[in-house]
Amino acid sequence: MLHFTANGKLRTVAFCAALAFGTISHAAEPAAKPANPAEAQKMMQHMMSLMTPELKQKVQALSPQSKQTLTRLQMLHDRRSDTLTMVQVMQEILADYQRMAAAIATDNADMAIDAAHNLAHHRLPRGGLLPYMPLDKVKDETVDALLVFQDMVEGNTLRLADAAKEGDMAKAAGYLGPIAQGCVACHNYFRGQPGISSNLVPKK
Ligand code: HEC
Repeated sequence: MLHFTANGKLRTVAFCAALAFGTISHAAEPAAKPANPAEAQKMMQHMMSLMTPELKQKVQALSPQSKQTLTRLQMLHDRRSDTLTMVQVMQEILADYQRMAAAIATDNADMAIDAAHNLAHHRLPRGGLLPYMPLDKVKDETVDALLVFQDMVEGNTLRLADAAKEGDMAKAAGYLGPIAQGCVACHNYFRGQPGISSNLVPKK
């Protein structure tokens, strides 16, 4: 299981079997079109063609299981941009999160469902997720962690949408916290405080 240390950093202790085999919460994944192996291969080849030789080497060194998981996760997102960066996609995700919160607070189930759908089916940035990670994070353990973050954010977003569809806005509101925990966990895992200036002396 994953657990958090006192300063909020995510630590991988061990993954349960369900995770290791990539079977976590498929029910709460964005409705995927039936996997088309040829299309998936084409998509991955395109992503790889955009990567530097250094990153490509890291990706090629991943286990077959990790490669399969990455392909599946990326195939869930059929809106793929060839220009947007991860930060730009993240800004859309933040806007959708805020929209969900506003919709719930104002008892607007339709708006909550729209925003949730948009968030769970967010765009993929140019080259997919991997180019925006530190190179040393491109490893099998990270792919396992991605599955956890995906369920925390996208899984709970789809559960929120289901609750809104049932007209149960109190239940929908309960998912906002766990979704935010997913944002925080992933940010802690991949990087520290955003926008640190190299023109300042390091904090004591
Ligand atoms: C899969 C991991 C992951 C998840 C889940 C995730 N983020 Fe991010 N997010 C990142 C990474 C990595 C960056 C930095 C990208 C870069 O600097 O190129 C980032 C950057 C951002 C930024 C840009 C500003 C900044 O802090 O750099 C915003 C805003 C943001 N994320 C919002 C969110 C919100 C809101 C959620 C949850 C609904 C979320 N993110 C979930 C990985 C994630």
